Formats: sequence, C-alpha cells, structure tokens
Amino acid sequence: MSSTESPLLEVQDLKTYFFVEEGILKAVDGVSFTVNQNETLGLIGESGSGKSVTAASVMRIVSSPGKLVEGQILLHSDEEIIDLAQLNPSGSEIRSIRGKEISMVFQEPMTSLSPVHTIGNQIRESILLHRTNDREEAQEITLDMLDRVGIANPAQRINAYPHQLSGGMRQRVMIAMALSCHPRLLIADEPTTALDVTVQAQILDLIKELQAQFQMAVLYITHDLGVIAETCHRVAVMYLGRIVELGSVRDIFYRPLHPYTALLLKSRPRMTQGASERLESIEGNVPVPLDPPLECGFHGRCPEAIKGVCDMRVPELIEWEEGHWVRCFLYEKSG
Ligand SMILES: Nc1ncnc2c1ncn2[C@@H]1O[C@H](COP(=O)(O)OP(=O)(O)OP(=O)(O)O)[C@@H](O)[C@H]1O
Ligand SMILES: [Mg+2]
Repeated sequence: MSSTESPLLEVQDLKTYFFVEEGILKAVDGVSFTVNQNETLGLIGESGSGKSVTAASVMRIVSSPGKLVEGQILLHSDEEIIDLAQLNPSGSEIRSIRGKEISMVFQEPMTSLSPVHTIGNQIRESILLHRTNDREEAQEITLDMLDRVGIANPAQRINAYPHQLSGGMRQRVMIAMALSCHPRLLIADEPTTALDVTVQAQILDLIKELQAQFQMAVLYITHDLGVIAETCHRVAVMYLGRIVELGSVRDIFYRPLHPYTALLLKSRPRMTQGASERLESIEGNVPVPLDPPLECGFHGRCPEAIKGVCDMRVPELIEWEEGHWVRCFLYEKSG
C-alpha cells in the first residue's frame, strides 16, 4: 500500500462552531490535516470529538446554528487549487464539486437517499449531473455500479425504492451512488457500522478495489481499529475538536505518543471471535466544548497531566519525529 505524496485535500486551521443558546460550541477548533492523492487517512476519536463535523465542513454541509468560522479547505487539481471554505455553501461551484470531486457516505444511508425516488433514478441523476448527458449510458453505468457493489439482479433492483431494501442493500446503494462519478476523494463516515461483519468486509474490499482502479483518496472515519489497521495509511486522532496526534498506522498503533491515544488503544475490547475491535470509551466523560477554556481539553482525564501547565494553555501540534505529530506538553521541545 503506497500513496503518492502529492496533496489532494489540505485542511488548514479549520474552525466550525455552533452558536447555541448556551454559548459557542467549538466542535472543530483548529483542525489541520492533508489527504494525499490515492491515500487513505483514518480519523478516530471518541464520540463527540468532532469527526463528523469535520467531514461536514469539508463538504460544506454544516447547517445553522453551525458555521465555518475560519480556515482553509484546499482542493488540489492539476489546473488549480480551490479553497472550498471560500465557496458559497449553496452555490453552483460547491455543487459541481460535491458528488463529482468529493463524495460522502454516511452511517445512516437514508441521510443521502431520497425515500420517494427509485434507487436507479437517484444514481442516474447524479451521473447525468456530472458524467454524461446520454440517458442510455447513464442507465448502463448505474446497472454496472449496482452490480459492482454486489447487488444481485440489478436490472430488477434498479426500480426499487430505498424502503424496499435491507439496511445492507441501502448502504451498498449509497456507496454505488457515491462512487458512480469516480470522485477523487471519498469521505466515509462510519459507512459500515450498521452492517454485519461479512457485508462490512465486502464493502471495504469494494472501496479498496475502486480506490486502486480510480486512484481515489479516502478519509475514513471509524471507531473500528481493525478497519483502520487494514485500510489506512495514516491516522489522525481527534479529541474535543482538535487533532491531538497524527502519524502512520504503525506510529499510532505501536508508538502512540499522546496519553489520550494510548488510553484509546488500551481501552479496546479483547478480540472475541467474530467481533470487530470497536473503540470503547475510556474513563471519564468527553466534555462538551461549550465556551472551552484555554487548556488541553484532556487534562482532567489525563494520568500524566502537569498542574499549572496543561490547565493553562493549549499545546501546539508539533512534529515529534518525521511524519508523527502530537499536541501535548509532554512533548513540547524546549527553547
Ligand atoms: N447541529 C448541531 N448543533 C449543536 N451541536 C452540534 C451539532 N452537531 C454536532 N454538534 C456537537 O459538535 C461536537 C462534535 O460532534 P460530531 O458529531 O462531529 O462528533 P463525532 O466525533 O462525529 O462523534 P460520533 O463518533 O458519535 O459520530 C459534539 O459536541 C456535538 O454535540
Ligand atoms: Mg460522527
């Protein structure tokens, strides 16, 4: 598994806040990462750490009271670099990028499938919008995609409505739709969580196959460490709206630097037959980043917290060793 080192998506200092009655909820608070062409970057972290809001920010589908308040989301192509953060979220430019350049699959397929149109119509629509004007060709591509995601009898199923399909089938349809226009980046937000292990494995294989075929990059959000180990090149660990560690899969699994990452890995349940390695919560609750004070958000739960330091400032994300980044005072280089 290798990836070229040229950046496809560069997220820089992204901040997405929810302006709620109680104050400002800083769901994403200065997130930076790069997804290289053809690379799979994993994004992990406990529930509420800001993974989905990060993904939604890239797609520019954060809705009120959420707002992208700062940062750059640079999408590279041969000809140009577009800052998605600057686009009107309901304008034509982002709409021509969504579905074509960047596609997203969600944990819950009904988020992206319309209940009132047949699945064939929905996939065809996206193909007609982005790939071809020829209805017959669009029909052929649709059938081919349904076949490739493992839907038996595509010619018949193409006329089904989402509610007539099982959860696993809907998930496959959503993935077929996301991949039908050969996006350069797929954002997968726990796309297989609701599925049984066998179907999960099939879908992961399919994503890998299409990735190899179309040179697609993937941002993979999951709680499943087995999936990370199997599919990702690098991993970013999020906590309270910030990336606290980023490195190769090997770095993160075998040489975690941040106490949070170490605990997260330790808290995973033993492998039992047939069970996947889901991350369990570690001790203490994830605080909600509502008007968060300037401090390391983890210090209250951290066994290695330094009094008067970790509760006073936010540590910087530094490159501790080549390609291995950490945001923690234990690793602040002096001077
Ligand atoms: N529409 C919203 N209004 C207010 N707060 C929100 C909204 N959506 C998300 N949040 C808050 O933003 C923070 C980050 O949420 P997010 O959904 O990104 O977490 P996550 O890492 O994807 O968690 P999970 O693993 O459970 O999917 C949480 O504190 C959440 O409560
Ligand atoms: Mg989420």
